[in-house]
Amino acid sequence: MGAYDESYRRSLADPDGFWLDAASAISWTRPPTKVLDDSAAPLYGWFPDGELNTSYNALDRHVEAGNGDRTALIHDSPVTGTSRSYTYAELRDEVAVFAGALRSLGVGKGDRVIVYLPMVPEAVITMLACARLGAIHSVVFGGFAPKELAARIDDATPKVIVAASCGIEPTRVVEYKPIIDAALDLATQRPEKTIVLQREIAPAKLGERDLDWETAISGAAPADPVPVAATDPLYVLYTSGTTGKPKGVVRDNGGHAVALAWSMKAVYDIGPGDVWWTASDVGWVVGHSYIVYAPLLVGATTVLYEGKPVGTPDAGAFWRMISAHHVRALFTAPTALRAIKKVDPDAEELAKYDLTGFSTLFLAGERLDPETYHWAHDKLGVPVVDHWWQTETGWPIAANPRGLEPLPVKPGSATVPLPGWDVHILDGDGTRQPAGDEGSIAIKLPLPPGALPTLWGDDQRYIDNYLSRYDGYYLTGDSGYIDADGYIFVMGRTDDVINVAGHRLSTGSMEAVLAAHPAVAECAVIGVHDALKGQLPRGLVVLKAGADISPEVLQEELVAAVRRDIGPVAAFREVSVVDALPKTRSGKILRKTMRGIADGRDEPVPSTIEDPAVLESLRAILRHSD
Ligand code: COA
Ligand code: AMP
Repeated sequence: MGAYDESYRRSLADPDGFWLDAASAISWTRPPTKVLDDSAAPLYGWFPDGELNTSYNALDRHVEAGNGDRTALIHDSPVTGTSRSYTYAELRDEVAVFAGALRSLGVGKGDRVIVYLPMVPEAVITMLACARLGAIHSVVFGGFAPKELAARIDDATPKVIVAASCGIEPTRVVEYKPIIDAALDLATQRPEKTIVLQREIAPAKLGERDLDWETAISGAAPADPVPVAATDPLYVLYTSGTTGKPKGVVRDNGGHAVALAWSMKAVYDIGPGDVWWTASDVGWVVGHSYIVYAPLLVGATTVLYEGKPVGTPDAGAFWRMISAHHVRALFTAPTALRAIKKVDPDAEELAKYDLTGFSTLFLAGERLDPETYHWAHDKLGVPVVDHWWQTETGWPIAANPRGLEPLPVKPGSATVPLPGWDVHILDGDGTRQPAGDEGSIAIKLPLPPGALPTLWGDDQRYIDNYLSRYDGYYLTGDSGYIDADGYIFVMGRTDDVINVAGHRLSTGSMEAVLAAHPAVAECAVIGVHDALKGQLPRGLVVLKAGADISPEVLQEELVAAVRRDIGPVAAFREVSVVDALPKTRSGKILRKTMRGIADGRDEPVPSTIEDPAVLESLRAILRHSD
């Protein structure tokens, strides 16, 4: 039996033994004696009597072990033309001081802090400072609009917001302060203070409740790590569901630290001193787990990149980064490679850089199409590893465990389920499907450490959304199949969640924006295939009788409304006015059928359709793409 098989089997046969062994990689102020807590099943907890501090594990213990001079963080920012490194000792000190600043504003264990920062070191510092105090951070991605920020403020009820004066996109400076002010106007909850990191390129005008970062830290006494229960929340990260209300995914401290440290070695083969780069954003789960926590937990060097794959300044940006910082492994989304490939199909930029030492490319966040896989593999000449996970799971469900036992690659597959994840393909009745048959991907409970224990403040919503579809299973929302060798193929979502450039978005929330327009009677938003971004949203609207508006004006207003209410990240640009939407006899809009037609598939017409002529009349519109 290979190392992977052995590890996987043990994790399911003896989860307590498996995870207690893994827990020894973490420093506990009170080591756990119990492993799985199933007393409130189907809600589970890990290491219920363990106590630790995640920030201590990410920073202090490396310094105390004599590795304070090792580089913890490299910030490289082509959009500002700056680069800066922090040793473990420096990062620990900055985190302790900022934690002291937060503490002096009354932030303590269990309090929430909303973080609205771009890819700057202060984002990492803020997250770790919250963790140091036992406070719960909730990072909001900069591409979201005030309304989305307000929804998160109201749900998380933060004591403090930590923000920057601006983010920098390749073509424009995004001023954050007006977005925060607009969000606070919409929100019903008011944090006591907003700390603003003033950036030279566009400093913000501060109001009464605002405090600039420098003032906040001046004279702040460094704060020591506060021990918390392993089951206490470390952070809440909001993600899109099928409705407009984002879901607050909760992450605990203990299970998270254990699982991430384990994954760093077993999956990514990264350890102390290795340079590791995740090109994502701290606003997404990939950024939380693999820019901030996992690399620091294992004493590696993490790279924080404030730039894009193309346009900052060119399609050689990623290769420059790998070469300049001696990156051993890179983790990014397939869309980033498609962006590079589009500009530089023959990867001519590669020849300018020395990539000696670069060993592996990890890709996740969306389906890795075989064409992108082959391009990356051919051009880079290193293993290209697809792996599959979600905000909810916090670390990969399926991957090629490079540090445990590299397995043969099958393009199109995320490889095998990792230890702890008991993955099954179920049909509509919950019957397990044989090898090769597609169905809903479900995971037998309990989920391993690191996965969400619940949704913020709403156990019932967690149960209703994830645990009630199949008794005893977590519903991933993805469909796919497992082949005869046990390889998992993830094919797409079964719900109305779409994936745009690796960003997870809800078509339901876009529909809510369209439906609010006074001229719109009904609408549907579907995700259609896009060669660069994987998927793009496309809207279809039916006008109210007597609505007096030209399709062009309506289109413009709807595109502007989605940008205003959800944000530029939705990339919503296409909307068509149609006479009617195809529905079943019970009135359900046939979104999946429309999506299939738009993607050029030979989609069968459901027998339950109310009026086949409506669908026929839409075929040409759906097939057309701008
Ligand atoms: N703050 C403010 N605005 C942001 C933003 C941020 N942090 N991130 C993106 N936006 C804006 C962009 O400026 C753009 O606005 P525009 O409509 O005015 O042009 C819009 O949101 C869409 O952005 P994006 O999806 O990034 O598209 P793009 O065309 O600018 O770039 C890629 C395309 C592929 C280069 C880019 O999406 C990318 O680098 N993706 C990497 C994938 C990734 O990091 N995924 C995260 C999960 S792993
Ligand atoms: P997020 O929660 O934003 O990380 O998005 C998670 C969703 O992205 C998953 O449910 C999948 O639909 C999709 N996804 C992530 N990684 C992969 C992958 N490797 N292959 C296919 N789909 C993926």
